[in-house]
Amino acid sequence: MSSVVSRGSSPRPQGRVTGPLRAPCEVLAYRRIGAYHSLTFVAPDMAERAAPGQFVTLAVDGNGTLLRRPFSIYAVSRHGPWAGTIEIIFDVGGPGTRWMSTLGKHDVVDLVGPLGRPFPVPQQQVGCLLVGGGYGAAPLLYLAQRLQQVNLRVDMILGAATQDRLFNAIEAKRLATTALFTTEDGSFGTQGRVTDVMERALDSGAVGAIYACGPMPMLRAVSEVAKHHRIAVQVAVEEAMACGVGVCMTCVIPYRREGQIVNVRSCVEGPVLNGRRIRWDLIGPQPTREIAVGEQPQEQAEE
Ligand SMILES: Cc1cc2nc3c(=O)[nH]c(=O)nc-3n(C[C@H](O)[C@H](O)[C@H](O)COP(=O)(O)OP(=O)(O)OC[C@H]3O[C@@H](n4cnc5c(N)ncnc54)[C@H](O)[C@@H]3O)c2cc1C
Ligand code: FES
Repeated sequence: MSSVVSRGSSPRPQGRVTGPLRAPCEVLAYRRIGAYHSLTFVAPDMAERAAPGQFVTLAVDGNGTLLRRPFSIYAVSRHGPWAGTIEIIFDVGGPGTRWMSTLGKHDVVDLVGPLGRPFPVPQQQVGCLLVGGGYGAAPLLYLAQRLQQVNLRVDMILGAATQDRLFNAIEAKRLATTALFTTEDGSFGTQGRVTDVMERALDSGAVGAIYACGPMPMLRAVSEVAKHHRIAVQVAVEEAMACGVGVCMTCVIPYRREGQIVNVRSCVEGPVLNGRRIRWDLIGPQPTREIAVGEQPQEQAEE
């Protein structure tokens, strides 16, 4: 089943130029969407190259902001009066995102992108279930449009802690055949987590590929459900990134490949990875011994 979606079948239309660029990009619009912020940049060459699941990095101003900040691409416009724009959605957490929330029309920001590996598109006619947590819904809404362009059925599950942190539920309802929502406080949709309603979404038996973006514990839980149902799952991970271009090894994820555990750089080999191959148990603080790279995994079979 994992071959339903495989490396190399990206949703990027054929013949389009690829590869990242660096450019000073003018802010076309800044707006608030629920608990989140949105910035739209005039970036025609990046928009031309972008595909769902990829990200851009921004040079941010202020104290303690030496490193660029990575953000998933939410929307791309290649046509219309403002042809060539890229939109990102962000949550304010530290100094970089705080500075970004002060930007306005005509400000100019140094962007690099599009970076990383996009979501692959199924090579067969299968239903796709897209599962997003918080602002992780943003790249999935972009993906939903691309999947529909190739006539694939899209169902969505979006979850968040509270209703205002549920990103763009209206757009999910518009795009998906069915859309389920969960909030942890029960303020919208089903009270609980996205995995609480996944069984319901999988009931039809039509789902052949799952895509997820959100916090790492959510990605792990979604990958476990996918594995249980033997469904291919592609997750966009959000590991801390210092360089974003494959040089520093800050962003490595333990991953099973050809019977071994290897460290993959999530900025270049991801951020979209096969969720069933990630060694979730080795991510984060390890209470026991370190597992060496290249060591044979004991308890999990190769997918
Ligand atoms: C691929 C990807 C996509 C993302 N998409 C989004 C999105 O769509 N919306 C959103 O709100 N957020 C997104 N994030 C998270 C976002 O990048 C952070 O919220 C942002 O960098 C925080 O910056 P800050 O200055 O506000 O906060 P701070 O926490 O002060 O800054 C963190 C900075 O330090 C870096 N950093 C943190 N820990 C380490 C470490 N251990 N080693 C090296 N560098 C480290 C981070 O990469 C970041 O540049 C994404 C992250 C990744 C990796
Ligand atoms: S962030 Fe530097 S290698 Fe990935």
